[in-house]
Amino acid sequence: MRIPENKIEEIRNLANIVDVISTYVHLKKQGKTYAGLCPFHNDKNPSLKVSEEKQIYKCFVCNAGGNVFNFLMQYKSISFIEAVQEVAEHLGVKLELEKGSSSIVNSELEELYDVNVTAAKYFSNNLLNSRQGEIAREYFKKRNIKTQTQKMFGLGYAFSEWEHFLHYAEEKNVNLAKAMQLGLIDKRNDGSYYDKYRGRIIFPIFSPNGRIIGFGGRILNNAEKAAKYLNSPESPVYLKRKTLYGLFHSKDEIRKLNKAILVEGYMDLIALFQNGVKNVVASSGTSLTEEQIKLLSRFTKNIVVIYDADSAGQHAAMRSIELLLKEDFEVRIVALPEGEDPDSFINQYGKKDFDELVKQADNFLEYQMRIYQQEGKLDSPESQAEVVRELVKSVALIEDELKRNLMIKSISKKFDLREVLVESELDKLLNKKDSQKKRYAGQNPEAPIPHEAEKIKTITRIEAKFEEEIIRLLFEGVEEIQDLIFDNIMPDDLHNPDYRKLSEIALENYRNDIVSPSGIIEKIEDDNLRNIALSLTLNDISISAKHGEEITSAEVTKKNALRYASDVIKKFRITKINEEIENNKIKIKNSETDDNVLELLRLNKELEEEKKAIREENILINEIE
Ligand code: CTP
Ligand code: MN
Repeated sequence: MRIPENKIEEIRNLANIVDVISTYVHLKKQGKTYAGLCPFHNDKNPSLKVSEEKQIYKCFVCNAGGNVFNFLMQYKSISFIEAVQEVAEHLGVKLELEKGSSSIVNSELEELYDVNVTAAKYFSNNLLNSRQGEIAREYFKKRNIKTQTQKMFGLGYAFSEWEHFLHYAEEKNVNLAKAMQLGLIDKRNDGSYYDKYRGRIIFPIFSPNGRIIGFGGRILNNAEKAAKYLNSPESPVYLKRKTLYGLFHSKDEIRKLNKAILVEGYMDLIALFQNGVKNVVASSGTSLTEEQIKLLSRFTKNIVVIYDADSAGQHAAMRSIELLLKEDFEVRIVALPEGEDPDSFINQYGKKDFDELVKQADNFLEYQMRIYQQEGKLDSPESQAEVVRELVKSVALIEDELKRNLMIKSISKKFDLREVLVESELDKLLNKKDSQKKRYAGQNPEAPIPHEAEKIKTITRIEAKFEEEIIRLLFEGVEEIQDLIFDNIMPDDLHNPDYRKLSEIALENYRNDIVSPSGIIEKIEDDNLRNIALSLTLNDISISAKHGEEITSAEVTKKNALRYASDVIKKFRITKINEEIENNKIKIKNSETDDNVLELLRLNKELEEEKKAIREENILINEIE
């Protein structure tokens, strides 16, 4: 399925982002833009900014942002296509979907989804309606899972025969190579196929939009030798690192309560859900990944982690805490009584006790300290010092300074240490982090290796400002400005690698006749780059406040935007030329042959003339005005 590019553009141009976002968020006009409480984090002050003029939005706290499609994708956890469809419907625009060669990738995915749906229906029917399924129905009864819950989560059963699904699939004309790619069947040496899932309870795994992307299969009898769980392999539709089991069912509740509970197992999630705890997701046994955390952060930044009480569970919890703190989550941890998991706990004690447990969850410091205590690490002064260092290490991961300070206070108090002492430990770590960051920032793999003479020269502050301004102008949505810029400046002229990349994207869109900020922003895949573009575009104040004398124009209205743009471009070109002249002068100083010097002097003379010409240039402006 594919929507033609020009149709997407038509819809994007017709849509009004303010109307769309207003359906979900109360927006108030503030000067040129609208502001509202950001729905993507726990917002106290209106941090969401929406520009009607530029048709984009951005949260200045959690960095969510994009155009009208991005908003719907993020808010409703739907795909790009679905977002376009929704806006089209809203506008009453008719969509004709293209089917053809250009949609190979999409239709390939669709085919995989279809195979999964066929399999899921088959497994579910086995469980709910077949005679042989009795054993599975008995199993769920024993485990207190109601029929209604089985249906809700699409649970199923795979018969113990070797080719039952295979025959069904053949009957349904399923592409067997695809079924094998999805891990539903496998091939024997003689080339014949057989079922992978046999005699297992089936848990379909859903994407956040409710598509079936894989399966987990649990053996019925723990005593059997086979692995307890058999999970689908990675496939184009199932990316394990990006999947959280149960999120499709729980996302609304997570958003509503602004809190998620993280458990390990399929059964844990289902048992909690059935008992009314519906804001839960499962990592399904694997250790939590950064991608999973990013996915979850679209719905909340508050998480309660519940792992088994055993040491493997504790280890997993510690690791998850670190990753979650890095992503700016508010982390709490629940320790279950020995030998229990969330499923067994809620079945034994009920929702009330479970809620109480969650309410009493430790913050991560308390939790870590308790674990260290259990390990006997608080007994000697030496190991205590080590513990403090470990705790401060976790604190150093938190970006929010205020939060960090509160944590430091609490560590000092717990260990009866002077605060300055703990603080200095933190400072050490933060400095390290800072210099690491700086090192990375300085390492741009794509930057050309500077010429010997050029090494001395670093980009000046004013040049950096001009580059920023040029990017901002590219996102003004005015075609004439883009004409002007691309007539004079190419992406390669920019030093800042992010700006260079952004201008490349803008140029590519310009060549395809897309000049609106919302259109260009849609094509930026990198989150960081998109953020930079959004910030620059929505930060109108920067124009007058930041640029001081170097750029004369203070208020940029559409009317004088062009004059302003030409001014910036001229000055940028002049700075570039100055840079070249300076470089040549250095070369002249270092040069050993007369020939070289003469050539360089000639070059500089030419450059000086070019500068003069630029100053006298009256680019187009008069004609346009
Ligand atoms: N898991 C897995 N492969 C295994 C064991 C476990 O993928 N061989 C994953 C499953 O997602 C499982 C989770 O790890 O749900 C937790 O494992 P475990 O605690 O052993 O199982 P439970 O979910 O508690 O299952 P049950 O209650 O049925 O024993
Ligand atoms: Mn269990």
